[in-house]
Amino acid sequence: MADWALITGASRGIGYATAARFRAEGWRVMNVSRHPCTVPDVVNVEVDLSVPGWEATFAPALREGPGQGGGRVCLVHNAARYVHDEVLAMDADHFRQVLEVNVVAPAVLNRLVRPLLTDGSSILYVGSTLSEKAVKGIASYVVTKHALVGMMRSTCQELVGTQIHTACVCPGFTDTEILREHLGGDAAARASVAARTTFGRIITPEEIADFLYTCANTPVLNGAVLHANLGQVET
Ligand SMILES: NC(=O)c1ccc[n+]([C@@H]2O[C@H](COP(=O)([O-])OP(=O)(O)OC[C@H]3O[C@@H](n4cnc5c(N)ncnc54)[C@H](OP(=O)(O)O)[C@@H]3O)[C@@H](O)[C@H]2O)c1
Repeated sequence: MADWALITGASRGIGYATAARFRAEGWRVMNVSRHPCTVPDVVNVEVDLSVPGWEATFAPALREGPGQGGGRVCLVHNAARYVHDEVLAMDADHFRQVLEVNVVAPAVLNRLVRPLLTDGSSILYVGSTLSEKAVKGIASYVVTKHALVGMMRSTCQELVGTQIHTACVCPGFTDTEILREHLGGDAAARASVAARTTFGRIITPEEIADFLYTCANTPVLNGAVLHANLGQVET
């Protein structure tokens, strides 16, 4: 009986490292994103989570993969859009698109995957340092990362009496495309970001993946908001 990790946004970055980590531990892995995850033997469901109706592609794949199982399932809500915008000048259509990927998709996936969550299964949310504080200029990201904490806490309360756990892992500055795009290839900006952790370096995606794997196997963390940021230096 196979254990399955269902990971959104495993085509690169933290999701990719997480897919590789779960595969290395013998789990089957399904990726949900627009581009494929190239970790060997990962099942790819290529959908755009910002376009309503993606469930029509996902649901049959779910039935044929994890739906055949009976083992544990770890659902990792990892995909996210990170865009520059302001809460006092927000375009409604733009905001809806970010909400679709960052908040609506996790809720829809929870509903679709819930019947497969056997004892020992888990729902992990990938939040951010910005799940609990704000910085200027990325309002939709800040709003949606805060929302994930609420969704995780609601998940915990709705799962009372089950043997299924949930947690929200909040990475700090991690070396992925989101961060590289934000820094725009500027070496000085990169060094200044590294200096924002007490260790003086940027986190690797593999470190967050290791922690997500640990969370999947650690039910006592149920309901927790877990900061994984190498000790952020506050300015
Ligand atoms: N890197 C950091 O410093 C940092 C810090 C805090 C939190 N995080 C969080 O960590 C998670 C992973 O981010 P990352 O740093 O690994 O970023 P990344 O390398 O840019 O990866 C983002 C992933 O999200 C997927 N995605 C984006 N839009 C999508 C859409 N419309 N439909 C389906 N999938 C979509 C992308 O896949 P496709 O392009 O193939 O669709 C990609 O696999 C995010 O939740 C992010 O907020 C990152």
